[in-house]
Amino acid sequence: MAAISSCPGGITNQGRRASFPKANMLEQLEQVRIEATTSIDLGIRSRLGQFLTPATVARFMASLFPASNLPSARLLDAGAGIGSLTGAFLDRWAEGAFEFREVTATAYEIDDTLRGYLTKTLEGYAAQLALTIKVLSYDFIEDSLNKIQFPTEPRFTHAILNPPYKKIHSNSRHRRLLSQVGIETVNIYSAFVALAVELMETGGQIVAIIPRSFCNGPYYRPFREFVLARAAIRHIHLFESRNKAFKDDGVLQENIIIRLECGGQQGKVTISTSTDDTFTDYQAHAHPFERIVMPYDRERFVHIPTSLNDSPIELSPVIRHSLADLGIEVSTGPVVDFRMREHLREMPEPGTVPLLYSVHFAGLGIEWPKMGIKKPNAIMRNAYTEKWLYPTGFYVVTRRFSSKEEKRRIVANVVAPEAFPDALALGFENHLNVFHACKKGLPEDLVRGLAVFLNSRVFDNHFRLFSGHTQVNATDLRQMKYPSHAILSSLGSWAKSRGELTQAMIDTKIENHIL
Ligand SMILES: C[S@@+](CC[C@H](N)C(=O)[O-])C[C@H]1O[C@@H](n2cnc3c(N)ncnc32)[C@H](O)[C@@H]1O
Repeated sequence: MAAISSCPGGITNQGRRASFPKANMLEQLEQVRIEATTSIDLGIRSRLGQFLTPATVARFMASLFPASNLPSARLLDAGAGIGSLTGAFLDRWAEGAFEFREVTATAYEIDDTLRGYLTKTLEGYAAQLALTIKVLSYDFIEDSLNKIQFPTEPRFTHAILNPPYKKIHSNSRHRRLLSQVGIETVNIYSAFVALAVELMETGGQIVAIIPRSFCNGPYYRPFREFVLARAAIRHIHLFESRNKAFKDDGVLQENIIIRLECGGQQGKVTISTSTDDTFTDYQAHAHPFERIVMPYDRERFVHIPTSLNDSPIELSPVIRHSLADLGIEVSTGPVVDFRMREHLREMPEPGTVPLLYSVHFAGLGIEWPKMGIKKPNAIMRNAYTEKWLYPTGFYVVTRRFSSKEEKRRIVANVVAPEAFPDALALGFENHLNVFHACKKGLPEDLVRGLAVFLNSRVFDNHFRLFSGHTQVNATDLRQMKYPSHAILSSLGSWAKSRGELTQAMIDTKIENHIL
């Protein structure tokens, strides 16, 4: 690994307390950010997750740190880029928000070009403030491990992070290293946050901008457990437009900013929103922690309520049943088409059974077979495919992927046997979720009622409270609460008696008669 560029000892300017010109350096850094963003090869930028924080976002992040009367601060900026986040923190200090007499800023940056800019930025600050800087060229993950296992320095009091985004493969060196300190996670960004939590002193404040993906889904559960066991969530800011926080970088992840207090007692959580990084429509409300992480939830999903009103589903005394209570299971469609290409057929023929994709969705039901689609309509039923097939019956299917333009995240359709009069079995393709009972169909009324409930606006809104991505996982659907068997069945017989249902009919029925 390359040598430390401004360390050991660091560069210091002891004795000069925050006396900073009003026009702060962050404004000047904005030019550097644009220059650095355009000058670095896009391949390197995406390999190292180099999406640099705009000044407006950096300033907002720094504003989230509570006022402090600590005599000194030890700041961590892991994956510091050109130093915008540390700069924003130092600007806030210079403006008088903190009582520190001195600050030590430790900034990790693995990329040589960016580290050049970073050193210059921090030297600029050190020339004017009582600031010691340590610019480290180490891999933050490797170096943190040493620091955690063999601590020699005092812990950090503050961390400000925009970590890189990159998957950690299960057999990678990073994965093995992280396991040594009890961190099991699937992405570099969550690893950086977990390590920061480990490196902070009690009461230490972390502000991080990270993708929303850690909030739910099974892969991030160990990370959620790790953080929630060691830190209190104080604030979450949500950018409501998916592509505006890093608009000139084309980042399409939904990002949040989170403030954690290490070792803090969990209390209310401030949830704020803005459409984008101008923060012009900024709104904030405090919510009880039980609305953010539900007390009964073993998955520890992190919900981000965007309105003060409780979700009608959460409040409803009749929507209290888990799928397991109802004897219903939900699974990902078992037919992975590219693994069984030779068994797929464009149209049905002797020996085949229907194979269903979302292209077969029509209204609330199914249209099959369909001509002129790019997908096969049928799959051979034979010794190889048999284990992936379900017997013909009544099922509800939902799409696993929606596009972000679509109005509803959940789109549910009824699969009824009359759509395939001669078929004894069905194939459900992998992009669908299937509701079933032990891989068999369910009673017709229950299926029709469940589809109505899943297609309602209130269910969709409730689902969006905790799912930031457009993917609808079976695990997410399992976590939701549903009305009783009896209510769903009566909804189903109502649906059958009405024939074709509109969205308005569904919403009126659910809102006036069920909630
Ligand atoms: C998303 S960028 C954010 C940069 C800066 N914090 C900002 O907000 O503008 C993440 C940075 O982490 C750096 N990086 C990636 N992997 C790293 C590692 N293992 N250790 C230290 N830095 C790393 C990248 O080069 C990149 O500059």
